[in-house]
Amino acid sequence: MNILVLSRNSSLYSTQSIVNAGRRRGHFMRVIDHMQCDLVMEGKNLQVYYQDELIDDYDAIIPRIGDAATSYGSAVVRQFQLMGLFSTLDYEALLRARNKISSMQLLAAHGIGVPKTVISNNSYTIEESLDYLGRMPLVIKLAQGTHGIGVLLAENKKNAGAIIETFHKLKQRVILQEFVAEAKGADIRVLIVDDKITGSMKRQARTGEFRSNLHRGGNSTVVRLTEAEAYAAKQAAKIMGLDVCGVDMLRSKKGPLILEVNASPGLEGIETTTKIDIAGKIIQFCERNAEFKA
Ligand SMILES: Nc1ncnc2c1ncn2[C@@H]1O[C@H](COP(=O)(O)OP(=O)(O)O)[C@@H](O)[C@H]1O
Ligand SMILES: [Mg+2]
Repeated sequence: MNILVLSRNSSLYSTQSIVNAGRRRGHFMRVIDHMQCDLVMEGKNLQVYYQDELIDDYDAIIPRIGDAATSYGSAVVRQFQLMGLFSTLDYEALLRARNKISSMQLLAAHGIGVPKTVISNNSYTIEESLDYLGRMPLVIKLAQGTHGIGVLLAENKKNAGAIIETFHKLKQRVILQEFVAEAKGADIRVLIVDDKITGSMKRQARTGEFRSNLHRGGNSTVVRLTEAEAYAAKQAAKIMGLDVCGVDMLRSKKGPLILEVNASPGLEGIETTTKIDIAGKIIQFCERNAEFKA
């Protein structure tokens, strides 16, 4: 099979891991930067050019779209999908998952546990918004943040009000969330490939930090999921429409609470922690779905 990996940087661990896994399984693998793709439509004919070169003869794409490239990246993925290539990431699911507002709404509406969340558009009703949540401290998050950046803890109402006002002034939409203290700075990352759990790890925030992201200095260990956690992770992936994803959840008194479903989950942490060849599973997922042109 000929497989394209969409990635801004071919030396990244996740990109390398996918390329190596594909080559080990006998496929032709190529990495191209989605931000340097030109999209052409003429009549019903759709094409993608990469630095003047027509990109054809591929069977599948594996998009690795970073947060900063969501908008154009999804247009490139859409083009390839419309051209009939199999994609491990659906462009609509990508857009859905990148927004913490739509993610929380959809998960909650389908009965998946999420931390109590309040979304508000203006600064006039901050008092009320804080009252809906009730307890302090609370977590304030940028609607479109990642790697733990834009996620902060407000200790009291005055403090929370000032932070929310500042974000609104900067035209940044935020979500307010109950702080799940009993998680004790740990969360669980579950890697799903094709509806199946392929690996899971617990990430513990470093001392004095509540965000457990590995990018924020958290450390990871292998974890055994409870039945409820496994079910919630699989359901969350399905609801978001993501075949390959990383589901983040907190262990709480109420059971698992989903924080987000990552559409381009990093592979380094999960592969080195669990010693599982996740990239290989992603390649096998392509093999099962892409039509061979041979
Ligand atoms: N409501 C919450 N209660 C306790 N901890 C939280 C809460 N929300 C997020 N966290 C911590 O902050 C980290 C980052 O939050 P997350 O919503 O996943 O944003 P990001 O997209 O930046 O990773 C989580 O992995 C978790 O450790
Ligand atoms: Mg996260």
